[in-house]
Amino acid sequence: MGQQSISTPWWRDRVVYQVYPRSFQDSNGDGIGDLPGIRTRLDYLDALGVGLIWLSPVFASPMHDNGYDISDYRAVAPEFGTLSDLDGLIADARKRDIGVLLDLVVNHTSDEHQWFRSARSGRDAPFRDFYIWRDPAPDGGLPNGVRSTFGGPAWTLDPETGQYYFHQFSPQQPDLNWANPALRSEIYAMMNWWLDRGIAGFRMDVIDLIGKDPDTGITANGPNLHPYLQEMHRQTLAGRDVVTVGETWSATPDTGLLYSGADRNELSMVFQFEHVTAQWHPEYGKWQPRPFDLIALKQAFNRWQEALAEDGWNALFWGNHDLPRAVSKYGDDGEYRVESAKMLATVLHLMKGTPFIYQGEELGMTNTRFDAIGKFRDIETHNMYREHVAAGLSPDAFLAGANENGRDTSRTPMHWDASETAGFTTATPWIGVNANAAEINAQAARADTGSVWWHYRQLIGLRREHPIIVEGCYSPLLAEDPQIFAYERRHDGSRLVVIANFTGEQVTRTLPAECRIAGRSLSSNYAPVVSFGSTIDLAPYEVQAVLED
Ligand code: GLC
Ligand code: CA
Repeated sequence: MGQQSISTPWWRDRVVYQVYPRSFQDSNGDGIGDLPGIRTRLDYLDALGVGLIWLSPVFASPMHDNGYDISDYRAVAPEFGTLSDLDGLIADARKRDIGVLLDLVVNHTSDEHQWFRSARSGRDAPFRDFYIWRDPAPDGGLPNGVRSTFGGPAWTLDPETGQYYFHQFSPQQPDLNWANPALRSEIYAMMNWWLDRGIAGFRMDVIDLIGKDPDTGITANGPNLHPYLQEMHRQTLAGRDVVTVGETWSATPDTGLLYSGADRNELSMVFQFEHVTAQWHPEYGKWQPRPFDLIALKQAFNRWQEALAEDGWNALFWGNHDLPRAVSKYGDDGEYRVESAKMLATVLHLMKGTPFIYQGEELGMTNTRFDAIGKFRDIETHNMYREHVAAGLSPDAFLAGANENGRDTSRTPMHWDASETAGFTTATPWIGVNANAAEINAQAARADTGSVWWHYRQLIGLRREHPIIVEGCYSPLLAEDPQIFAYERRHDGSRLVVIANFTGEQVTRTLPAECRIAGRSLSSNYAPVVSFGSTIDLAPYEVQAVLED
């Protein structure tokens, strides 16, 4: 697919679009998005210009965690369609030169996977060692104090065999035992089976957890993580021209290069979350949001840009299916929705790395807010509600946090048109549609060249035209400024300077020499400018990008 060279892999001038299948397009009127629905929207993605699709899991699953609990790696969930629908989607996408990345969830399976059904059938069962079992502590209690990400202990007692099994997410998501070579070869065989079907690569779910050591409490970034990734590469990816992105909440600028360094033979890039967690409460995490801190945000991006400047590669994103809507989190989803959504897009897409768009972000979709816990669908939100309310947090305070940072904020149906169910379904959708779909939708956005959609389309196109966007080296500018995000890119004698106002106020500054530039406008969300001189006046959420070549 596309051009290949040692220095620049084929996928680097492409933008990735994440499809959350459950909420993208329903085709058969059951209120749940599906593969035939996605196929009917490929022209939309093609018109936007995306070069790769990351498909959140579509495998067979009881859907306790919306597909991140897989019961059969080689089958498609019936509510999403059939294997032939998936093959058809991959083929249809390929005709448009769009590659499909599947979501590889191999830290754990569903407890309904046949491996786990077998494993729990007896201590000597053939697949027992595919999972992690420990005897109760001498007092009969938990083997140790490791906690699950979704609340409660990471150990659940299996009464039949009298041992606990380990799960970093819900009890319905038992962790796989990567220390077992037989498990690892099953995983690699499965990966090869999918790669042979013509996918463009994988997004790898919580891949930094596979090297865990449950006995010492090490979950992320365990001692065997990188040996496993290198083995996986040798057994599956080596010799194939594919792209991989690992989800690694634990990655830091110090460990980033271990995953994506050229001589490492592990992954193409990883999602790091330092810009996300920098906005969380130190003690209560995302459920108790704190005021936006631009300096912390910039430091996170700048450190990663620096760490992967010469080697390795960044994955760039504002949102995904686990995170709030970008414009609600980092911009203004009211008065300056359009301006701030465009500003965020420009700042992200002109950094060095691969930009990822979460479905609906290109429309400037906003957080969906629910007024009662019963309207949320997400397992994590429900578990955490019980845990936090039991610990004394008021239900209203929890709902406020869930509406700001919870996972359902961004999982509601895609807005295709102004109809009651936003063109997503003819039935009752599995989760409520955002009330602003009548105003914010694809049909309206495509009809208005001043929309957020057209701005994304332009940015995606620029990337294919200007090597400086893909390859230029990055330097932060105005790093200490609490209101402005600015940086410079340099490549082959050209310079690009991006200056963005992250606030809803007018901002005026005297610019240091390194910010000044004269050339042409590459991207802006107000009247374009062609130079930056000694002072600058920025309107609310204004962004300007000037290229000198
Ligand atoms: C990842 C997924 C998330 C899922 C979790 C467990 O973080 O993005 O949606 O719940 O892994 O698989
Ligand atoms: Ca459906």
